Amino acid sequence: MFATSKLIVPVTGKFGIAVTRGAATAAAASSSPRYKKFAIYRWDPDKKGDKPRLQTYEVDLNACGPMVLDALIKIKNEIDPTLTFRRSCREGICGSCAMNIGGINTLACISKIDTSPSKPTKVYPLPHMYVIKDLVPDMNHFYEQYRSIQPWLQRADNAKPGSAQLLQSVDDRKKLDGLYECILCACCSTSCPSYWWNGDKYLGPAVLMQAYRWIIDSRDDKSKERLDKLKDPFSVYRCHTIMNCTKTCPKGLNPGKAIAEIKKLLAGIASKETPGLQGSLKLN
Ligand code: SF4
Ligand code: SF4
Ligand code: FES
Repeated sequence: MFATSKLIVPVTGKFGIAVTRGAATAAAASSSPRYKKFAIYRWDPDKKGDKPRLQTYEVDLNACGPMVLDALIKIKNEIDPTLTFRRSCREGICGSCAMNIGGINTLACISKIDTSPSKPTKVYPLPHMYVIKDLVPDMNHFYEQYRSIQPWLQRADNAKPGSAQLLQSVDDRKKLDGLYECILCACCSTSCPSYWWNGDKYLGPAVLMQAYRWIIDSRDDKSKERLDKLKDPFSVYRCHTIMNCTKTCPKGLNPGKAIAEIKKLLAGIASKETPGLQGSLKLN
């Protein structure tokens, strides 16, 4: 069933973002409205008898910021306060607003509205995840998998954290580029067919890229143990190099390549290089 709600009077939103971007479009607001339809997945499992459906809203693009998150915030502020989604930074840094927009997993805050009036923009939660409500997926399993790779520096000397500055050469530091920028939005993992079917045991591209980030860190002494934990038929080897993950990453990262590098390390056809710099400087 499709319900339609129309926005008639542009009102300033209560969130700063809506106010700022609304101001940028204020001049255009006086011209005739440009309505755009958004068909949004709605489901409240706590409401007895509620069934998943698409609900259509119309938003005047002349009174809305340019991104899909602007439209969602506008709908929530001005048309339907029950619409539920996550967002925080509104600049592609926190990863909260990951969702499926127009068939692509991406971040609503950096996804430009397709202004074509003829075609509604469809918005769904990240695919193949349990839904808490509307566009909010349950991320608990994803975070448990992240926890399982122990995403922190581990040293053989067991030095007290913060007691010394660990040395790292410029070249070794460069090896972390393209890995540390991941914001754990899960767009990649939830675009991966292997993760859809085996997400209980396959770690998925986001978590594996972070596993690789710690394996190759020149300051980390537990690479062997980290790799040993991945030696089973599922954790890594469910990746079949389909590369949906890399194609969809809204930060332009390449988790598919990181997984390939882990496979090379596991197969013994590559090995972690000796650190260019070792040791530490004691801090007072
Ligand atoms: S690799 Fe990209 S898509 Fe995957 S979690 Fe990190 S930022 Fe998101
Ligand atoms: S490359 Fe691997 S992790 Fe990425 S989408 Fe394909 S199977 Fe999934
Ligand atoms: S709101 Fe933070 S990434 Fe979109």
